[in-house]
Amino acid sequence: MASIGRALRRPWIIPFYFLVFGFLAYRLPNYLGFDPSRSTAATRLDLPFYYPLLVAHILFGSVAFVTAAIQVWPWLRNRHPKLHRISGRVYVLGGALPAGLAILTITPFLTHGAGQKAGNALLGLLWLSTTIVGFRRARQGRIVEHREWMLRSFALCFSILASRFWLGPAILWLEPEVFTMGVDGPPAVQDQVSTLTSWIPWVVNLLIAEWFNHRARYKALGRQAAKRTAAKQEPKVSTSVTPPVPVEPVLATATKTPVLERPAPDPVP
Ligand code: HEM
Repeated sequence: MASIGRALRRPWIIPFYFLVFGFLAYRLPNYLGFDPSRSTAATRLDLPFYYPLLVAHILFGSVAFVTAAIQVWPWLRNRHPKLHRISGRVYVLGGALPAGLAILTITPFLTHGAGQKAGNALLGLLWLSTTIVGFRRARQGRIVEHREWMLRSFALCFSILASRFWLGPAILWLEPEVFTMGVDGPPAVQDQVSTLTSWIPWVVNLLIAEWFNHRARYKALGRQAAKRTAAKQEPKVSTSVTPPVPVEPVLATATKTPVLERPAPDPVP
């Protein structure tokens, strides 16, 4: 019972998982039958590679989504480091990389104009590059940098979820006529809405990730400075330098087993 309490100590975990799996349950079924007529995203039937790559993007994206959700739960990360390593590899190799490459291939053929294409191309490129750098830093054992890069990668990954929240306020503020014309209104208005939702969510998510990274860095610097100050303030016993004492094996007399003991140093004058 206590361990369940500890596992759920972060109050955001349950609503967050609810949103992640809710999004997948809501969107994924449209693409599982490989039927282009059920796609809720625009498809290009004139290009035979477009729909298969869109579906590949969504399936690999879902793998990235679930494994990223596993990675961000602090309790799971700390208590099950093996699961963290496995799901981290799946996130990179079976999720983000194939999903990012698939969407980048069809980005030039998206249907809502240059704003949508540019926003998604930059998002895709940043997602791939932050993920690759984060993965390499983990393999190099540079764990602080690994954390920072993966936080950026997750922020970009979850921008697909954030786009659902930004849609309403962004439209209301910048393009209110959509509410009177509907999202199926004139193509120019649809393009503007697509442009907004192709930029705002990931830019904001990335800024939030940077803020978290800066905060973590400053906290670490503060801890280091506090340690240095404490070390300086520690009372010194003596200023004279005692020469280093060579360590020689000495047979303890009380037992029959040989024990390595450091001979007592000369008393400090
Ligand atoms: C971070 C890089 C990503 C980029 C650049 C990207 C880009 C896109 C684009 C351009 C579309 C087509 C939109 C349209 O034509 O209207 C799309 C659709 C979709 N993507 Fe992604 N995506 C990314 C990540 C993800 C992730 C992590 C998931 C997780 C499940 C995901 C799930 C989907 C789904 C479900 C659709 C279909 C949406 C619908 O039916 O309306 N994407 N994505």
